[in-house]
Amino acid sequence: MGTERQDVEAARAFYDRISRVYDAISDASEHASRERGLELLAPAEGEQILEVGFGTGQALVPLARAVGSAGGVSGIDLSEGMAMVARRRLEDAGLGDRVELRVGAAPPLPWPDSRFDAVSMSFTLELLPDDVIRELLAETRRVLRPGGRLGVVSMAVSPRGKPESVLTHTYKWLHRHFPHIVDCRPIDASAGIRAAGFDPRQVIEMSIWTLPVVALLAVPAPGPS
Ligand SMILES: C[S@@+](CC[C@H](N)C(=O)[O-])C[C@H]1O[C@@H](n2cnc3c(N)ncnc32)[C@H](O)[C@@H]1O
Repeated sequence: MGTERQDVEAARAFYDRISRVYDAISDASEHASRERGLELLAPAEGEQILEVGFGTGQALVPLARAVGSAGGVSGIDLSEGMAMVARRRLEDAGLGDRVELRVGAAPPLPWPDSRFDAVSMSFTLELLPDDVIRELLAETRRVLRPGGRLGVVSMAVSPRGKPESVLTHTYKWLHRHFPHIVDCRPIDASAGIRAAGFDPRQVIEMSIWTLPVVALLAVPAPGPS
């Protein structure tokens, strides 16, 4: 059985194409969950923080403000179009000098071991096939310092015992049949994160139009990675 890969070229072309309208399409629905995730992550003055799949930079701005001039923010995103929007947002906010952006597909994460105090991802993990999620979380563990934090916001499977909404069913069907249009699907982020050697510390369940979403905070579990 082969390893499941992300179709990086298709994903890049998709996000390049929608980069200039992405905020208009998605921000109204995703904003509150992303903010909740940032509150959980609680970025602090002087920290070094990485965002994977930074998109148009909606989270880069509050992250860069929180770490201040003594800290730094790095980001990786596969779409040059999204990165152009993010760079403009950072310049407009006067924060360009404390943020380092790279364009490329993660994993790998092109930074040394223990480089970051925290890693943040919102609405990105659920775009990736299961094998790639495992690789990305292993890389995340590697680049986090001991005691570092991982913050994830993602579409989620329905909580145990709760039936799926009609919209969740529809979403999964669309993802199965038209993955180039509906590129994400609900995932069990807590289980994936635990399997990758993290201890989830806080999990907040939310929803967007009946689609379950979680914001979670995790730390590397003690022991070998
Ligand atoms: C749904 S958008 C979310 C953007 C942002 N995190 C937010 O909350 O608005 C997903 C982003 O992940 C990026 N992406 C998808 N696959 C990626 C990969 N393998 N490596 C890095 N970025 C990726 C896309 O280009 C896109 O900008």
